[in-house]
Amino acid sequence: MEIIILPTEEAVASRVADEFENAIRNAADGRITLGLATGSSPLKSYGELVRRHREEGLSFKNAQAFLLDEYVGLPRTHEQSYYRFIRDNFTSLIDIADDAVNSPNGEADDPRAEAIRYDEAIAAAGGVDLQILGIGTDGHIGFNEPGSALTSRTRLKTLTEQTISDNMRFFTDGETVPIHVLTQGLGTISQARRIVLTATGEGKAEAIAAMSEGAVSAFCPASVLQLHQKVTVVIDDAAASKLKLADYYRFVQEKKPLV
Ligand code: GLP
Repeated sequence: MEIIILPTEEAVASRVADEFENAIRNAADGRITLGLATGSSPLKSYGELVRRHREEGLSFKNAQAFLLDEYVGLPRTHEQSYYRFIRDNFTSLIDIADDAVNSPNGEADDPRAEAIRYDEAIAAAGGVDLQILGIGTDGHIGFNEPGSALTSRTRLKTLTEQTISDNMRFFTDGETVPIHVLTQGLGTISQARRIVLTATGEGKAEAIAAMSEGAVSAFCPASVLQLHQKVTVVIDDAAASKLKLADYYRFVQEKKPLV
């Protein structure tokens, strides 16, 4: 796990955008499968990618994308459905084809069958080349809450009270946050060829420390990333504030071998 600690949210966003840009430019004809996350963490990175698309000609026209998760029972038209969120905040602002942006159907009559279909669709598309992740305050990735099997596949999950209350800020007063979701599993996410996890702010410091320096455990679902060979964690000073080896990670970046 490579841990990159940067001073500001802007620097974090720019670094995450660099990872996307390099991956797209290195893919033949820009044919790449991106794994996209929702939540507030990647928003500035998406904004920077939109800027590079508009001002520097970065093209996503040959890319396809798979979202991590979706609320069950929330119509696609709802502002907080992840189907809509990713379009409003990213994919409708770049040149990716709308039908190349895939997400689990939270309105499916049979959510369990939909989960299996979605997992198979990712595999049929050749798997994810570059997955971006945020992290929940309880260490979840996607919507894999503590206790999730480290090998889990896309499935129906129930949110923790902590996640429901964390996500309440996105919903208007009087609305209830759905408690059921469809999410790629930890095993599914782990099959992405490369993973970039981003987080900012002190609220994420504990989760970042547990993920990268704690035990590999279902109690902190993101800790499964310690088993992956190509994970880059891009965070700001505040999110890094509980890392025991923060100085070492900074030293590694300063002294990065050129070869
Ligand atoms: C949400 C999403 C995750 C996201 C996480 C953190 O519930 N399902 O994909 O990474 O929780 O959200 P935020 O970035 O808004 O803090």
